[in-house]
Amino acid sequence: MKILKTVSEVKEQVKTWRKEGLTIGLVPTMGWLHEGHLSLIKKARENNDRVVVSDFVNPMQFGPGEDFDSYPRDLNRDAGLCEKAGVDVIFAPEVSEMYPEGFCSYVDMNGLTGGLCGKSRPIHFRGVQTVVNKLFNIVTPDNAYFGEKDAQQLAVIKRMVVDLNMNVKINGCPIIREADGLAKSSRNSYLTPEERSLAPIINKAMTMGRQMIIDGERNSQKVIEAISEVILSVGVTKIDYVSIVDSLSLEPVETIEKDILCACAVYMGNSARLIDNFSLEI
Ligand code: PAF
Repeated sequence: MKILKTVSEVKEQVKTWRKEGLTIGLVPTMGWLHEGHLSLIKKARENNDRVVVSDFVNPMQFGPGEDFDSYPRDLNRDAGLCEKAGVDVIFAPEVSEMYPEGFCSYVDMNGLTGGLCGKSRPIHFRGVQTVVNKLFNIVTPDNAYFGEKDAQQLAVIKRMVVDLNMNVKINGCPIIREADGLAKSSRNSYLTPEERSLAPIINKAMTMGRQMIIDGERNSQKVIEAISEVILSVGVTKIDYVSIVDSLSLEPVETIEKDILCACAVYMGNSARLIDNFSLEI
C-alpha cells in the first residue's frame, strides 16, 4: 500500500492502472477510520481492481466555530487499518495541496441542501461537493462509496453526479452501529463516558418512530414529537432537528404517503453533534 500526498502522484498512479485496464474504487474519508469506513472499503475491495481511500479533513466543509481544529486525526492508525483492509493507495494531501493559494472555485446546488443539516451548517454541503468533485477529478474512480449515515450528503452527491454528467457510480452503504445501536462515527470519540452511555437513546427513539410509521401513523409531526420527547428524556441533549422528508426531494412532508427519510441531529452535551436516520418505503 502506498501513501500519496500530492495530486500529481495520484494522477500518475491512476494513469498506470488505466493503461493496465484496471477499475478503481474510491472511498472518500476524513480519516479516524472506524468500522463504518471499513465496510465501505470492503465493498470497494470486492467490486474494483484497485482501491483508493482519501484521508483528508476538509476545512471547506466546516463552518466558523465548528470542530475542524479538534477533529481527530491519526494517519498512522488509519494506514494500519487500510493496509489490513487491502487498500492500494491512501491519498492524504495537505490543505495547501488541495487548496493552493488563489483557489476560488466551488461546486454548489440550490436544492437538497437547505434543510436538515444544511439549515444549521449553511456552507457544509458546498464544501463537501467541492472536495468530492476534486477527488473525483483526481482519482477518476469507476465507483465511489459513501455511508447512508450521512443520508443528505449521499443524496447531494448522487444529484451532483447526475446533474454534472459525471462518470462515476455512487454506492450507498448501510449504517454500521455499535452493539447498543449508536451509529458509528468519528465524532463519537468526543463523547464523555456519561454522554456515551446515553447516546444510544438516539437510535432507540428513531427505532420507535420507525415502528410508529410501520404501525400506520401518517402524521409526521406526531412521529417527530414522539422521537424528540424520547431523545430529550435523558437530559443531556439538545436537538438540532428531527425531520421527516421526501426521500428524493428532501422536502419536509406533513403526511407520510410516499417513501420518506427520517433524519435527526442531536447535540450530546457540549461536545458532539451526532446524526442518525432511517428510510422507509411506503
Ligand atoms: O463523509 C465524510 O467523511 C466527508 O464529508 C467526505 C465525503 C469525505 C468529504 O470530505
